[in-house]
Amino acid sequence: MAIRFLLNGAPEDVEADPTTTLLDWLRERRGLTGTKEGCNEGDCGACTVMVTDERGSRALNACILFLPQIDGKAVRTVEGISGPDGALHPVQEAMVAHHGSQCGFCTPGFVVSMAVAQLNARTDHDDQLAGNLCRCTGYAPIVRAAEAAAHAPVPAWMRTDAAAVAGLSAGDGSSPFIPSSADELAAWCEAHPDATLIAGATDVGLWVTKQLRELAPVAFLGRCADLKGVEIGDDTIRIGAMTTLSELHAAMADLHPGFAELIRRYGSVQVRNAATVGGNIANGSPIGDSPPALIALGATLHLRRGDERRDLPLEEFFLDYGKQDRRPGEFVEAVSVPRQPDRLRCYKLSKRFDQDISAVCGCFSITVEDGMVTAARIAFGGMAGVPKRASAVEAALTGQPWTEATVAAAIPAFARDFKPMSDMRASAEYRLRAAEGMLWRAFHEDAGHAADVLKVRA
Ligand SMILES: Cc1cc2nc3c(=O)[nH]c(=O)nc-3n(C[C@H](O)[C@H](O)[C@H](O)COP(=O)(O)OP(=O)(O)OC[C@H]3O[C@@H](n4cnc5c(N)ncnc54)[C@H](O)[C@@H]3O)c2cc1C
Ligand code: FES
Ligand code: FES
Repeated sequence: MAIRFLLNGAPEDVEADPTTTLLDWLRERRGLTGTKEGCNEGDCGACTVMVTDERGSRALNACILFLPQIDGKAVRTVEGISGPDGALHPVQEAMVAHHGSQCGFCTPGFVVSMAVAQLNARTDHDDQLAGNLCRCTGYAPIVRAAEAAAHAPVPAWMRTDAAAVAGLSAGDGSSPFIPSSADELAAWCEAHPDATLIAGATDVGLWVTKQLRELAPVAFLGRCADLKGVEIGDDTIRIGAMTTLSELHAAMADLHPGFAELIRRYGSVQVRNAATVGGNIANGSPIGDSPPALIALGATLHLRRGDERRDLPLEEFFLDYGKQDRRPGEFVEAVSVPRQPDRLRCYKLSKRFDQDISAVCGCFSITVEDGMVTAARIAFGGMAGVPKRASAVEAALTGQPWTEATVAAAIPAFARDFKPMSDMRASAEYRLRAAEGMLWRAFHEDAGHAADVLKVRA
């Protein structure tokens, strides 16, 4: 037996290739075709399932979820959202009553997302459903259905997974390799320096579903408890590599609300529930959203190979496009940022508001004392081949009065810091102008002026 999980309340023991997706397994091996395949890349939510473990129940996209990632957990598909006797879930009744479905292709995914939100007492329906696309109905009837069902009693069958999963023993973790601690992972990585590490699989999943790549050998990091979670100390906030973006969002809500707001626009609920901070850094993407914010906060990256550990400023990890300062067998253990008064402002510019990759992401931490800029840390995504600090802009601001004249004088420094590229998301010229505009926005927001397009009213 390699992997064991609960499927709609019943145990399943599965032997399968480790990069078999849950979606393929459900539809092709199990005949559970309620879970739909739309995009097969995490974008549409048609494949949404509920996954429960000791940390609670969450919505995930089955199309980019490999079977070993659900080892020891409980999965509920749309077939398990209605009661064992066929009774409809309140969200299903509400979808009927409010005409929330037309062709019906998106409906199972919506129903699962809505049922998980209802279970978790979430009423921020726009955010909860931003990862589910509907091409026919329009979102108003669907949101009305979510509102109508929000306060109905949670059906008893929706609560059974949490208790059942506590008594479930997972597979033995040897094949595929699923370490249960960072020590085990470190030893394995030394012996397999070319292996693929799989964290949330929101990148790696697409290597399989879209690029049809063979990945062996692989290790799944999801059971390394000591790589998970955010520790908030007096001086430092330490974020384990396996902390999901959803968990980081919750941790940042009070400490750095601007960072939390940036994360709210990161993918969708389903993506944030899977994607990890370690993956968002280790993939080296120039358009990852967390590195600019972490760099602006002065983050230190903690890397490990075997028993050897080293720390470096996060910005130094990103050497060049596609090239990071990571040695064979080395992995990201954590990232930490100093505790500090909140002055972080984060701006994400993308073609769509929800569920889109940044064209430009700018993060600003500007310290002003007695009207003078005493320190500035400014970092951007989308402006170079790597996430990068705006060193010339920082230098132009530091030691100057925090005034319009200083900002105007610093603007030409953007062209010294960045030579952005043109691509489908934005032209080089647009990127540069947008980055400059973000500094103006930071200045005006500091001065108490409304600068958020959602808040500015004529
Ligand atoms: C629909 C969709 C929307 C998205 N939206 C956004 C967005 O808005 N903003 C954004 O920034 N990204 C976005 N992404 C990209 C993706 O979510 C992130 O890059 C994510 O953080 C990757 O984390 P993961 O845990 O899923 O990594 P994985 O896919 O598991 O791994 C990514 C890479 O990192 C390596 N890796 C993972 N963990 C470690 C570790 N601890 N040590 C060393 N190497 C490691 C893996 O081997 C792999 O090379 C989106 C992706 C999808 C599918
Ligand atoms: S099929 Fe589109 S998100 Fe999975
Ligand atoms: S009802 Fe057709 S895609 Fe939503």
